[in-house]
Amino acid sequence: MKVLVATEKPFAAIAVEGIKKELDNAGIEMVLLEKYTDKKQLLDAVKDVEGIIIRSDIIDKEILEEAKNLKIVVRAGAGYDNVDLEAATAKGVCVMNTPGQNSNAVAELVFGMAVMMARNLYNGTSGTELKGKKLGIHAFGQVGRNVARIAKGFGMDVYAYDPYCPVSVMEEAGVIPVTENVDKLYSSCQYISLHIPATSETKKSINYDLLKKMPKGAVLINTARKEVIDEDELVKIMEDRSDFKYVADIAPSNAAEFAEKFPGRYFFTPKKMGAQTAEANINAGIAAAKQSVGFLKEGIDKFRVNK
Ligand code: 3PG
Repeated sequence: MKVLVATEKPFAAIAVEGIKKELDNAGIEMVLLEKYTDKKQLLDAVKDVEGIIIRSDIIDKEILEEAKNLKIVVRAGAGYDNVDLEAATAKGVCVMNTPGQNSNAVAELVFGMAVMMARNLYNGTSGTELKGKKLGIHAFGQVGRNVARIAKGFGMDVYAYDPYCPVSVMEEAGVIPVTENVDKLYSSCQYISLHIPATSETKKSINYDLLKKMPKGAVLINTARKEVIDEDELVKIMEDRSDFKYVADIAPSNAAEFAEKFPGRYFFTPKKMGAQTAEANINAGIAAAKQSVGFLKEGIDKFRVNK
């Protein structure tokens, strides 16, 4: 039995060792495909494996067709918008994620980026502090909850909006639940941190009308997915409001326009880096290996997302 670890953006070496150990102990061979540059390499690698562990790697219909023996795909991480769930279900392939395993890493990056914007990209000019500022957490899942915990250490006033999360969970976490509507979160908070998944409902949902509600000195922090932003409308708000800043873990499709029009008011990581820590790689990678073993050996499908 074989499990392929296919990571265009590799895990830390120590995480790969841990994954291999988990699979070895279960008598499963690990096949490693890192830093591939061509889909063809992935198509070749999936041919005879029963399981695939991925990160943001794209598993589409063509890959699934080629993987004749495939039974499970585990996305070592939270978002699974990179997997064609419908095609997987049609082929009887189980798809899982590893919720919560990399969320602290993403939450820490939120503050790395928030401080960077508050200090004017460390350009030597006088900046501002996070203490006493209002932070709005848009979606209170695992990452959002870690963001809330850290924000309190900074002395921020923390608000959260998430119609899918019970108010009691927010209250227990010590944040102020915004229950009216999402507009209320944006109109209340100078800092907004996005944690919504990319779904047909959320894509392009962060638009001009919503962003224009943010108070003066607005900072939008996106460690979620670029697809949730209406990129043309984000440019429009930044054109209309010279106080508006945008910082994101991965560049928007129109990054060149930002470079030309908004120097000093944005920052983009060169590659998605939120979950790129040794700790997150170990947690998510080993969880993915354990879940693969549990499913292949005992049929355990606890974290299945394509029910
Ligand atoms: C996730 O959905 O878990 C994060 O976006 C991390 O993605 P990555 O594993 O590609 O870094």
